[in-house]
Amino acid sequence: MIRAAVLASGGGSNLQAILDHLVALGPARSLEVVVVASHRKSAGALDRARTHGITAEVISTLDAPALLALLESHGVQLVILAGYLKLVPPEVIARYRGAIVNIHPALLPKFGGAGMYGHRVHDAVIAAGERESGATVHFVTDEYDRGAIIAQERVPVLPGETGLALGARVLEAEHRLYPRVVCELAARLNAAADSTV
Ligand code: GRF
Repeated sequence: MIRAAVLASGGGSNLQAILDHLVALGPARSLEVVVVASHRKSAGALDRARTHGITAEVISTLDAPALLALLESHGVQLVILAGYLKLVPPEVIARYRGAIVNIHPALLPKFGGAGMYGHRVHDAVIAAGERESGATVHFVTDEYDRGAIIAQERVPVLPGETGLALGARVLEAEHRLYPRVVCELAARLNAAADSTV
């Protein structure tokens, strides 16, 4: 069983989708979320964690040693960013290379990078006249939204649709995609760990 941490800034609907998926999988699940951390004391994600009996921690985004210490004290093997809007310190990215992932609400490499979050992403997709958008799960590197793509789910842009409406449908795709992909990745990490013993 892979021990995962979730870092979140906001409401945590992706965290919730992951927790619901893990409950549905029961003993067949390949990971457990052992800690949820946020730089915002009021983040809904922290309440969702507490409701599930998961440790919820408030972190300083600038204190890399403290964040690493937190992850290591929980034996974390996989870091899942779920609506986390801050840059992850390079020390943490280096320590978790290949085991730190993010979800972005567009089809990367388009519509990513610094400042591309929330409604701005969907407004930009509409303004560009795109026929489709979607969700992308990717590895995290030290450049925003530039790590290798793991999986995508495509969502058509409907004629006359607003960014708000598109964003709601992309979020539904995120909730389908992210739980499945993090479980697959955890299963691969489990297999890799087994083959080295
Ligand atoms: C999602 O759209 C995610 O792709 C983006 O931030 C949003 C977070 O939503 N990175 P939630 O906090 O999981 O509800």
